[in-house]
Amino acid sequence: MSHSGPVLVFDSGVGGLSVVAHLRAAMPERALAYLCDNAALPYGTKEDTWLIERIVAVCCAGVRASRAGALVVACNTASTLALDALRAALPIPVVGTVPAIKPAAAMSRNGVIGLLATSATVRRRYTDRLIARFAAEQRVVRVAGDALVKQAEQVLAGSPPDAGVIEQALAPLFADAELDTVVLGCTHFPLLRPFFETLAPRPMQWIDSGAAIARRTATVAPQGSRISGVDISFATAPAEAGMIRALERYEFAAPQGLEALEQ
Ligand code: DGL
Repeated sequence: MSHSGPVLVFDSGVGGLSVVAHLRAAMPERALAYLCDNAALPYGTKEDTWLIERIVAVCCAGVRASRAGALVVACNTASTLALDALRAALPIPVVGTVPAIKPAAAMSRNGVIGLLATSATVRRRYTDRLIARFAAEQRVVRVAGDALVKQAEQVLAGSPPDAGVIEQALAPLFADAELDTVVLGCTHFPLLRPFFETLAPRPMQWIDSGAAIARRTATVAPQGSRISGVDISFATAPAEAGMIRALERYEFAAPQGLEALEQ
């Protein structure tokens, strides 16, 4: 397999585009490809055994179709579950996205941080280990914000979000008077950050992993340059107009199907 192909960025939906923004800024000349498993969105409420099999099948098909030289798993729900399986299945570097607990613990003044992620990510053993390792001295308030995934998809498709849904999802974080730092542990959530900031009752620090992923990718990814200003993308279900527009804004062509997966 060629190691000079594009960097393939994978998510269940358009959340991975929040990571793409950092990758484009850090490596504007590097060819990217985008892969979303929109047929199975959302991942956060699905069963682990099924998810591992699905993620490996979709990523292997995507790597074959794009001839990728590296894979960025731009999804916390997939990374906290399937990184080992993906690394065993693929002969290329695999970069994962996991909740930014370590920087958040360092940045919190009060020692109280929120973890806003999918229900799958907040209860994972991987997450328990991250917290035990990097935030043993802090109090971590875990909040499952699955309803926010659809809101982020909606915003990227060009419609305003439902402020009531966002407020309800963030209420446990806002209610804790000592909490001053929130880890955005789902790649969909940085896309909603302006709304989080507006609705927050007091200033808070919102931390995601995008910049760190871009730095890591730059060290492991191949040197494949972009041939044109538009990169390829793949989706597992037909893309709606809003998704096509969102991909266009991040310099991707309308998605192709993943035929290898359907065979
Ligand atoms: N964007 C994904 C993540 O980072 C998950 C969204 C979903 O539930 O599919 O966790």
